[in-house]
Amino acid sequence: MTEIIEGSIYDFPKYYDLLFGSDWKAEFDFLKKAFPKHAGCSVKRVFEPACGTGRLLIKLAQAGYDVGGNDLNEKSIEFCNDRLQRFKFDRSTFVGDMADFKVRKKYHAAFNLINTFRHLSTEATAEAHLHCMADALVKGGLYILGLHLEPTEAPRMEEESWSARRGNLAITSYMWSKGIDRRNRQEHLGITLDIYTPTAHRRIVDHMDYRTYKHAQFKSLLKKVPEFEVAEVYDFSYEIDQPHRITGTSEDVVYVLRKV
Ligand SMILES: C[S@@+](CC[C@H](N)C(=O)[O-])C[C@H]1O[C@@H](n2cnc3c(N)ncnc32)[C@H](O)[C@@H]1O
Repeated sequence: MTEIIEGSIYDFPKYYDLLFGSDWKAEFDFLKKAFPKHAGCSVKRVFEPACGTGRLLIKLAQAGYDVGGNDLNEKSIEFCNDRLQRFKFDRSTFVGDMADFKVRKKYHAAFNLINTFRHLSTEATAEAHLHCMADALVKGGLYILGLHLEPTEAPRMEEESWSARRGNLAITSYMWSKGIDRRNRQEHLGITLDIYTPTAHRRIVDHMDYRTYKHAQFKSLLKKVPEFEVAEVYDFSYEIDQPHRITGTSEDVVYVLRKV
């Protein structure tokens, strides 16, 4: 029998991390190449707003970077800090809102890669977030921001699925768009996580709202944050030698913003 749990997938960091943590390598390699290519400073200190379980922070810490991060979800932060500590790093992530935070010591680079920015539901919170990020960085520092734009000349992606396995634990997720509220620029998404062990099947059923961005809307947001210039744009293939030129069919984009 399937046990159904209605709740936030972010309250299950072990499952989240298994599912999305296995996908770290392309992003990690891209970040390591983007830092020296685009930063106006040497990158040693790296911050991830809304870091969740810190699936990329742990890899960056192991590669020699000093890492920090924040997230609204206490369980994710505990998971993240416990793992950093287990590998003898500082418990350097904290519970906080990515639209309203300050850091004690500035960072050389920051990143936020998989649409997390779209959790910020209004223009005001998105702008506040970008100002917080600029404040958290040294001059020449980078903020690498990945999100799905809404294509204007092609159908948008309406569903995604991932799966991962470790030992006897297997997880499959399915995310689908329930539609867009154009007036409020909110995309309503359903997400399920199916968790299988040899003796049980649990399903977590969640709902999320993501703010929508057409290219012009994102450009107009960036204009309100003159602390950043666009150094380059890539896409989710994370090929450092293949910058992306945004057109009406562009969807998954990675902005490399540099603090001026
Ligand atoms: C899709 S997960 C991404 C986690 C991590 N960045 C990664 O790449 O695996 C989105 C995360 O954003 C967090 N989040 C949502 N709104 C937030 C906010 N306003 N401030 C901080 N964290 C937030 C959630 O708790 C969740 O951990």
